[in-house]
Amino acid sequence: MQRWLSSVVVVGAICALFVQEISAVQITDSTPRCRSPDDGSVSLCSELIDPNGYPCTEHTIQTTDGYLLALQRVSSRNANLKTQRGGPVLLVHGLFMGGDAWFLDSTKQSLGFILADNGFDVWVGNVRGTRWSHGHISLSEKEKDFWDWSWQDLALCDLAEMIRFINLITSSKIFIVGHSQGTIISLAALTQPDIVEMVEAAALLSPISYLEHITAPLVLRMVGVHLDQMVFAMGIHQLNFRSNVLINLIDSLCDGHLDCNDLLTTITGKNCCFNNSRVDFYFEYEPHSSSAKNIRHLFQMIRQGTFAQYDYGIFKNLMLYGQTKPPAFDLNRIPKSLPLWMSYGGNDALADVADVQHTLKELQSTPELVYLENYGHMDFILSERGKEDLYNPMIGFFRSLGKSSSS
Ligand SMILES: *[C@@H]1O[C@H](CO)[C@@H](O)[C@H](O)[C@H]1NC(C)=O
Repeated sequence: MQRWLSSVVVVGAICALFVQEISAVQITDSTPRCRSPDDGSVSLCSELIDPNGYPCTEHTIQTTDGYLLALQRVSSRNANLKTQRGGPVLLVHGLFMGGDAWFLDSTKQSLGFILADNGFDVWVGNVRGTRWSHGHISLSEKEKDFWDWSWQDLALCDLAEMIRFINLITSSKIFIVGHSQGTIISLAALTQPDIVEMVEAAALLSPISYLEHITAPLVLRMVGVHLDQMVFAMGIHQLNFRSNVLINLIDSLCDGHLDCNDLLTTITGKNCCFNNSRVDFYFEYEPHSSSAKNIRHLFQMIRQGTFAQYDYGIFKNLMLYGQTKPPAFDLNRIPKSLPLWMSYGGNDALADVADVQHTLKELQSTPELVYLENYGHMDFILSERGKEDLYNPMIGFFRSLGKSSSS
């Protein structure tokens, strides 16, 4: 069981990038046009949120490139809080995870429930390829083209469309909370002026833009053996860690080279604070699928030390970007006026402290920081003490902004 989790977490933890132009997204109503074949009638609301008594509604949006994404809207159980005085918050999950990531523990421990309890209007994002998204208007998940995207598309199409939709429905600027890949795509999207103007503030858990100093031994070994190219050569476009092919690949990477007995640790770093007896339950939901191209993009960042668009090689780069190297996402373009809050961990093998410092150096603003020495990558969403360590300070930060702008 630990193996599943660790492989899921590994990939998910690595993330982020941007595109120059945001495509306009069409907004559809809340009736999905189609569902991915194995979704059936199961929804995130009905699985994890309704049973806890929180009002939850399902919405479907369509990206400009035709993907149908699920968004859930969750509010407080307490009717007195229905005025939503906290404002809209969009939760952006990490790699190999889905919107369920924010609801995996008790209502007292999971960020999604805690935000609703505090009167926030909670919106849950689910990117393309995850179990809760609803496929594509014309492509099937069995087709190679369905998986032809990387995190820059998640930033410029999926996240951009979610923000636009929530902004339209609520007529309000929104708070963004991202974890891991969710921070990569948030940072990339926030470099775009037409997106950032709809955002009130952003809170980033395990923030990633640069991945140069990643220390996770298993990830470094995957990069070293060019697992990304291997997978492409095998004709695999969808990365599904529930498949035997990938499980066998990981076993062979560990065999004789690495002690992968604690697979999660070799991928995410030593997590201090999540409840080990809940791992089987987590695996009922994680990992979700991602694309082989996305992993390749992340591995490019690790190899090259860049926070840039996908590298197609010199000739295709010239055709697509007009230059031999892919254009970088410029963190300096995130406006100084955007309030930022970040929390990072001393044992996070994916969001290394040196890389977090690099991100901070390039930002114009000085984010509010919460450093947790014992935290590994998964602790930021699964810690039993997350409320005290992280979520209460985050909510305090959001509230302080409301006060200063209204005074
Ligand atoms: C840890 O998980 C088990 C199984 O779900 C649960 O019974 C226990 O209460 C959890 N411990 C804490 C401190 O939340």
